[in-house]
Amino acid sequence: MPNFPINDPVLVTCGLPYANGKCHIGHLRTYIPADIFVRSLHKQGQDALFVCGSDTHGTPIVVSAEQLDTTPEQLIEKYHHHFDEVFKNLGIKFDFFGSTDGQVNHNRTNEIVNKLIENNYVYPKKIDLAYCGHCERFLPDRYVEGICPYCESPARGDECDQGCGRHLEPGEIKDPLCKICGNKAKYREQEHFFFRLSSFRDFLLEHLDTLGGTANARNYAREWVTQELKDWCITRNLEWGVRFPGHDELVVYVWVDAPIGYISFTEEYCNTAGQDWKQIWQGDSRIIHFIGLDIAYHHCIFWPAMLKGAGYSLPWAVVASGMVKVEDKTFSKSRGYVVWVNEDYLDHGFHPDLLRYYLASYTSHTKELNFSWTVFQEKVNNELVGSLGNFLYRTLHFANKNFGSVPEGQVSPEVLDEIRETIQNVIEAMDEYEFKKAIDIIMGLSAYGNTYFQSNEPWHLIKQDPDACSRVVKDCLQIAKALVLLFEPVIPTKMTEAWEQLGLKGDVSQKTYEDGLVELESGSILPKPVILFNKIEDKKIAEMEIIMNNRVAEARAKEEKTAPSPTQLPKITFEDFKTMDIRIGTVVNAETIKGSDKLLKLKVDIGEAEPRQVVAGIAQTQGPEEMVDKQVVLLANMKPAKLFGVESNGMIMAADEDGAVLLHPERKVENGTVVR
Ligand code: MSP
Ligand code: ZN
Repeated sequence: MPNFPINDPVLVTCGLPYANGKCHIGHLRTYIPADIFVRSLHKQGQDALFVCGSDTHGTPIVVSAEQLDTTPEQLIEKYHHHFDEVFKNLGIKFDFFGSTDGQVNHNRTNEIVNKLIENNYVYPKKIDLAYCGHCERFLPDRYVEGICPYCESPARGDECDQGCGRHLEPGEIKDPLCKICGNKAKYREQEHFFFRLSSFRDFLLEHLDTLGGTANARNYAREWVTQELKDWCITRNLEWGVRFPGHDELVVYVWVDAPIGYISFTEEYCNTAGQDWKQIWQGDSRIIHFIGLDIAYHHCIFWPAMLKGAGYSLPWAVVASGMVKVEDKTFSKSRGYVVWVNEDYLDHGFHPDLLRYYLASYTSHTKELNFSWTVFQEKVNNELVGSLGNFLYRTLHFANKNFGSVPEGQVSPEVLDEIRETIQNVIEAMDEYEFKKAIDIIMGLSAYGNTYFQSNEPWHLIKQDPDACSRVVKDCLQIAKALVLLFEPVIPTKMTEAWEQLGLKGDVSQKTYEDGLVELESGSILPKPVILFNKIEDKKIAEMEIIMNNRVAEARAKEEKTAPSPTQLPKITFEDFKTMDIRIGTVVNAETIKGSDKLLKLKVDIGEAEPRQVVAGIAQTQGPEEMVDKQVVLLANMKPAKLFGVESNGMIMAADEDGAVLLHPERKVENGTVVR
């Protein structure tokens, strides 16, 4: 079997959940595959330490606490328990679930920052920072909103979350507004501390060439390292966080102390288990980070540079999932496209294993994953009920009824070969972080089992040839045993039940895949089986869809209430109106823009020598082919802006109804015709 066992100590970590909100299925795409991976390592006889913890610092935590009229300490305590509980309920079994506000992490962060200072990777620099005159304070990260200087999208604090996705340095955001009082903020000079990320360029390019995990993370990071690598400001004006050494008024940026949590949690675990954490973080080891692609920059650029600068071991692999969507819409808590793990799932009586199965098997790990209630129902009913559940129950039921124990005879070599090959292929897929592929392969064995049972007709054999019937049933029971072992990492609770139904002793999570080749003992008692998976009814799914639709409708109503309605806008004069150059033009060329699913790049003939290039946010309602030759209304004297690196010199006008509805003249007119 490939790569087994591994001799270096293995550490698996998961992106730390922010301790200021509830767990949703987006989070689970990091935690469930990681848990499956660790359980699968155990099944290969490989030990691995599995740690995670709450990310407790940063401005979102402070802002949430202020809004809820509580303290950051109370807030993080509440959500720390929440996540811990949800993880337990879902069978996600961390060896240690810590907190970045723990003393060990404060100490470790101090030590690492001091090491970086000593090694001359940190320097002071005076910068202009957003300052609110009304609140009399500097506005770090989430306290300020404004415009992204790179793509002109609305942006929050340290990230352009609605536009180009860039990390924004303090002072970069344009037209800053104070989040606390809503007033315009000004810029004021202050001294901060910077990490010399730019000096790690060559190191990072080399590191990315040897880094394991999934290619999406490496490719994404490589792009940034080759294009722009700026030094990072690593201090903030906050009370809450890990103090920056020697400066009582500053804390370190949350992205410094959060990943250091990975080290601290290892340390805390090892201290109680009597092991040496330095073997992992300062020796030869395999450190595997599971994250979502949204935080690949931090894990593949910033984090290895910090580790290198402070003399620590580097990550061995970064496994980045694609993002989760809900009912084909971008995940959005504010728009209602969210599935809360407690309220929307567990509280409705759905079994945790069904969600584990969906999230791991719906699509390849690096792709976007859509959660839809009807697909959930189909997958459960066809795959878990229809194939796996069906095979296990018919085998166990038939064996229990006709034999009461594992029948005499030996398992056919052909069946053992099939099992052996399945195990090998599953291990290979797991090694490549191809969870869907692994599950498809296991389902293949389940299909093999169903065909085996069906084509051998044991219900006839029992009367005609009891010995032959024994052999068939023994074969099917052996396939069932292998299936239970193979599926345990994915659906551990259900497979624990199935293990007991096979009359087997011990904890199935402690067994290995190889045990699937160990023949069941003839004569061992088979208890009366129970059906493991039940069909999900249409009615239940309809209920869930109503809950989702109501939430989306509520969110929309709320948004309409808070956005200024057109009737509230001030009256303008004809002179004001005349400042707008609105003209009719014909689209002569239309293309999609790489990296954006919302934008199209258009060339519009408005009667000038050259067609105008504009970027329009219409890609979700219009394909590029449909646009060519259409006449559109163009606001032609917009200030130029760059979106996704593409220059835009105008704005296509559209009615805004749940997406863009384009405006066209009633009949074809000359290009350049003025609109007034
Ligand atoms: N606190 C940071 C991570 C710090 S790691 C040193 C963070 N927290 S989070 O709560 O927003 O996300 C926790 C994990 O869930 C991350 O791995 C993140 O990528 C993942 N996801 C959160 N929402 C997600 C989706 N909608 N889709 C897929 N994964 C997402 O990021
Ligand atoms: Zn941007």
